[in-house]
Amino acid sequence: MFEYDKILKSLLNPNLNKQQLAKLIGTQSTQFTSERTKLKNNYSDEDLISAYTSFYFPTNALKLEFLVEHLSEQMKAEISKTHILDIGTGPGTYAFAASELFSGALSFTGVDESKLMIDQANKLNDEYFQNSKIGFSQTLPNVDDEPRTLIFGNSINEMGMPAAFKIIKRYNPKFIICIEPGTKDVFKDLLALRKKLLLIDYKIQYPCMGQGTCPLEGIDDWCHQSIKTSLDFELESLSQVAKLDRKVMPATIHFYALEHVEDKAGQARIIRLKKNVKHAFLWDVCDENNKSVTLEVPKKLFKKKVVKQLEEISSGISVRYTIDKELENSTVRVKTIEVEGIE
Ligand SMILES: C[S@@+](CC[C@H](N)C(=O)[O-])C[C@H]1O[C@@H](n2cnc3c(N)ncnc32)[C@H](O)[C@@H]1O
Repeated sequence: MFEYDKILKSLLNPNLNKQQLAKLIGTQSTQFTSERTKLKNNYSDEDLISAYTSFYFPTNALKLEFLVEHLSEQMKAEISKTHILDIGTGPGTYAFAASELFSGALSFTGVDESKLMIDQANKLNDEYFQNSKIGFSQTLPNVDDEPRTLIFGNSINEMGMPAAFKIIKRYNPKFIICIEPGTKDVFKDLLALRKKLLLIDYKIQYPCMGQGTCPLEGIDDWCHQSIKTSLDFELESLSQVAKLDRKVMPATIHFYALEHVEDKAGQARIIRLKKNVKHAFLWDVCDENNKSVTLEVPKKLFKKKVVKQLEEISSGISVRYTIDKELENSTVRVKTIEVEGIE
């Protein structure tokens, strides 16, 4: 989505080489996953911020692109009539991504408590994006009657769900986008937020097909998307040196609109690509009644070329199917199936 060489030139410290960046990214990754009490250290100096920006900024941005591919034209047009507020923006990840994907929107504001992140975001705008509709701040903007879209990008898991809910209540936005890590703990937090939002007139548009109780509530399982990407050569090479895969990115993406429901009748969402066995794909899906089942999708239904395409799909896409036979263990064999994006 972005020009990678321009990002590298606009890092707070543009003189770090690939090995140095990879080492810093490795340290950060450990702190994101297993040493979460030290999280703030990740944003404590210019080198760490540069490392974050070289790696997570261009790859995380692709997760918004993935969501946008699953929105209707009407929904995209509606979002483009709002002011977009990116909370916990970091180096401006979703403010810049939104400025590319919803270029007609009224403005793009990134907010972050870290001064160094804001410095990095401003540097990227001054030197690369040069977009006068984009601005950054350490404090939340004043509340007014303007229509807003709020984006939380990997920030609810840092500020906590109650703080995020407070910000939502403060602005009463038309749209809310949450793009968070694809882990079980984060899923539980987002499920709690889902419950609260459905009680105050928000409707979930993605990934759920229905407004009912999530079938995974109260059980030891979670729903997330695994997004398959192809990366710029230099970025791919950095990920190899850092030994961190970004070709498949797990994420928990939820999207809400105020009082607006789109008709999802007959559709189901793939929530897990469970198995790829010789004769069939096994996919867990969740349907418009918030019921989860496993689909057995026989490969003989497709031409070879299509089977190859199906091997590469991301979870999080939608399907329409008819049933051939009910099998054991909440599994059904499909008779026909249409998979979003596959001809
Ligand atoms: C993991 S980074 C995510 C950056 C960017 N959104 C992305 O996804 O690439 C989390 C960011 O949230 C910010 N943050 C955490 N708690 C915050 C709060 N209560 N208010 C504002 N920013 C916060 C941190 O400073 C950090 O920059």
